[in-house]
Amino acid sequence: MSTVLDNKPHPRPLVQAGGEPLDVLADFPAIPEGWAYLDTAATAQKPKPVIDAITRAYGETYATVHRGVYQRSADMTLAYEAARRRVATFLNAGSADEIVFVRGATEAINLVARSWGHAHLKAGDRILLSRLEHHSNIVPWQMLRDRTGVEIDVAPLTEDGRIDLDAVERMLTPAHKLVALAHVSNVLGSLLDVRRAADLAHGVGAKLLVDGCQAVPRLAVDVAALDCDFYVFSGHKLYGPTGIGCLWARPELLDAMPPWQGGGSMIDKVTFERTTYAPPPTRFEAGTPHIVGALGLHAAIDYVESIGLSAIHAHETALVRQTRDALRDLNSVTLFGPEDSAGIVSFAVEGVHPHDVGTILDEARVAIRAGHHCAQPLMEALGVPATARASFGVYNGPADVDALVKGIERVRRIFG
Ligand SMILES: Cc1ncc(COP(=O)(O)O)c(C=O)c1O
Repeated sequence: MSTVLDNKPHPRPLVQAGGEPLDVLADFPAIPEGWAYLDTAATAQKPKPVIDAITRAYGETYATVHRGVYQRSADMTLAYEAARRRVATFLNAGSADEIVFVRGATEAINLVARSWGHAHLKAGDRILLSRLEHHSNIVPWQMLRDRTGVEIDVAPLTEDGRIDLDAVERMLTPAHKLVALAHVSNVLGSLLDVRRAADLAHGVGAKLLVDGCQAVPRLAVDVAALDCDFYVFSGHKLYGPTGIGCLWARPELLDAMPPWQGGGSMIDKVTFERTTYAPPPTRFEAGTPHIVGALGLHAAIDYVESIGLSAIHAHETALVRQTRDALRDLNSVTLFGPEDSAGIVSFAVEGVHPHDVGTILDEARVAIRAGHHCAQPLMEALGVPATARASFGVYNGPADVDALVKGIERVRRIFG
C-alpha cells in the first residue's frame, strides 16, 4: 500500500546541460503541442510528479496534520514535516524550524512586516527598497510606515536595469533597519548580488530581506552563503501548487518575532486570561495549513533538483540570449533589462500597446504577459505604461522563441 511518504524521485535520463533543450515537455500535461507558454514568471506549469503528489495526497492518503491520534494523520504529519525539511535542504537552511509555510511570497513579506516590523521598528527608522520591486515588496512596508512612522527610501537602478548597489551603499545610514530587495526582477530578469547587498545592509546594522520569487525556479539558492536574514518565495512559480510558499528567517529573528495571526495550532496553552504561543515555525502557522500544498511543493523541489538548477539556469540563459539576439534585429523593438537577465525578457514594440502585442501573439499560440507586472514604480522609471514580457521555464525550447519572434514580426506587419 502506498503511504504519504513514498514520494519517489522522478526518473530523468534526458537532462542536458549547456543550454541544450531539457526535453521535459512530456512531463507537463497542460502544455499542448504547439503552444508556446512564455509566462512562467507569472506562474509555472505543473509537472506530472507534482500533479501525482497532489492527486495521491487528496485521493489516497489525506488527513489532517499535527493533531490526529490515528495512523493516517500521524503519517500525514510526517509527510508535511518532511516537506518542511525538504525546503530547508533546498535553501541550505540550518534547520527545518527556520521554514515557515505561508500562502506565498506576498504573505511571507506581510508576515515579516506585521510581526518583525511592528516589534522592532519605530518612527524615525528607515527601510530601503529598490525601484524595481514587485508591489508585494512595497505595499506591506507602506502599511507598516502608515502605522509606525518608519520612512521608506528607494534605491535607483543602473542604466541596464539592475539595482544600483553603489547607490545603496551611499544611501544607507545607521537609521536603516531593513533592506528589502528582489533577488531576480520579475520584469527585467536582473540579478541582485545578494552577498554584497547583505554586506552593505549589515554594515549599518540593518537586516536584509530577499524576495526570491523569481530566483528559486532558476538559480540554486543557499541562504547561508548569501548571508541574508529573511528569504521568501512562492511555490507556484517553482512548478509547485498555488497557495503555498515559504519564509526562511534566521532562527534568532524568528524566536524574537511575535505571532501575527491567532488561532489553532500556533498556541502552547490557551485560557481566557492568557495565551502562550508555540515556538517557531508553528507560532506563525495559525489554522489548518495547506497540507497538500506542502506535499506538492516537496514534489516540485524534487523535480527541479532532479533536472538540476545549474542545467535549468544554463537552459534559460540560452533561451534569453536567443530571444534578445532575435529581437534586437527587429528595429522597432525595444529591449529592457540587462543582457544577462535570468529567464525573463521584457520588450516593447514601437507604436503598439503591449496588450495588443499579447493578443496577437495569443492568436499565434504564444502566451506572454503584458501589463505593469505588479511593478508600477518600475514602469514609471522605464517611462512606459506597460511592457510585454516573455519568461521561460524548463519546458521551453528554441521553437518557442522562434514562434515568439514570428508572432512579433506579424504584430509589426499588422501595425504597419
Ligand atoms: C518578484 C516577485 N515578488 C513577489 C511576487 C508575489 O508572489 P505571489 O503572488 O505568489 O505571492 C511575485 C509574483 O509575481 C514576484 O514575481
